[in-house]
Amino acid sequence: MKVKSLEFSDFRNLKNNIIYPSEGVNVIFGDNAQGKTNLLEAIWLFSGGHSFRGSKENELTKFGSNKSELRMEFFSQGRDQNAEIKFISNKKEIFINNVAKSSSAYLSQCFSAVVFSPEHLSLVKNGPSLRRKFIDGAICQQDVKFAVMMSKYSRIMFQRNALLKEIYRHPELKETLFIWDDSLIEIGSKIIKRRLDYLRKLRSIAAQFHLGISSGKEELTIEYVSGVGVCDDDSEQDIIKKLKDSFEKNRNEDIKLSCTNCGPHRDDLEFFINGIKAKTFGSQGQQRSIVLSLKLSEAQMLWEYFDEPPVVLLDDVLSEIDRSRQEYLLNNTRGCQTFITGCEPPVYENENTKIFTINKGEVS
Ligand SMILES: Nc1ncnc2c1ncn2[C@@H]1O[C@H](COP(=O)(O)OP(=O)(O)O)[C@@H](O)[C@H]1O
Ligand SMILES: [Mg+2]
Repeated sequence: MKVKSLEFSDFRNLKNNIIYPSEGVNVIFGDNAQGKTNLLEAIWLFSGGHSFRGSKENELTKFGSNKSELRMEFFSQGRDQNAEIKFISNKKEIFINNVAKSSSAYLSQCFSAVVFSPEHLSLVKNGPSLRRKFIDGAICQQDVKFAVMMSKYSRIMFQRNALLKEIYRHPELKETLFIWDDSLIEIGSKIIKRRLDYLRKLRSIAAQFHLGISSGKEELTIEYVSGVGVCDDDSEQDIIKKLKDSFEKNRNEDIKLSCTNCGPHRDDLEFFINGIKAKTFGSQGQQRSIVLSLKLSEAQMLWEYFDEPPVVLLDDVLSEIDRSRQEYLLNNTRGCQTFITGCEPPVYENENTKIFTINKGEVS
């Protein structure tokens, strides 16, 4: 997977331009608020995901403009390909190899990337939503159907929660709740199953990376934590049964609180180092090493899945981690085309490194 060119017009603060990255390491440096992260975000959008900053699509277009366009030429699946993303007012248009597509999720079938930014560094100690976002985002990169399931699940949950609020005032509506429950249980069990399958692989790869970062001293284990009580080797049928029981058990509480209290949207991941809970007892360095291991594993799993290395986007993370972790990260992403942003000019340069400077959105 190699980005050969990236063209942007009216995207955030970036001055309209086209860049031709190196197939190796690309360093983008400039002062704060010049547009470094915007440039990585533009590349990331081609992986089919949403903005990694959680921005809404209408925030991506340059202030004062109602249209922005991104075009990328890239090498993937043994051939040159291209894709375009156009944001026009509140609409998004996607083209892959000049053919219009109905959803940006299709982009992930031909282009894959891993992004690592400072917010990820608090993945272990922050709330569960960041951890769910990590695993779900990683699966979406491999599986278009999963992305579709996730958005269907949140849509149905939104409708169920709206009904729960109504039931509070109109108890007779309680009879209609089962319609939403059945759909949520059906999709929810698929989501949990897919996460467990991904986790099974992630566990062993991440443990290897963590062992490497800690010079063989720390064993990393990861557990799936679910209020529904699922176990690692549950079948989809087992999960359906457990979800059904939980929905029944929680029904009155759900009505009282007007929200859905169990399901994959409440599940979590828990990390242990040598058997000890990392969130509570791990040092900041250990917690960061876990995140590094997870991100490297995400990249390796994509590499195995597509049989080619994903593009790696490192947004301001190198300055946040110590030298040995920096080296570990760079050594283990060798082979991937990499984009690194930072405020300092690079110290690690070779014939495969291209340097871009960025000043008030002007990339040169
Ligand atoms: N839609 C937009 N239109 C124009 N400018 C924007 C838009 N969104 C963000 N910006 C500007 O982009 C700059 C931040 O860019 P960013 O890539 O985050 O900088 P950094 O170089 O620190 O990573 C800010 O000056 C912000 O005002
Ligand atoms: Mg930035």
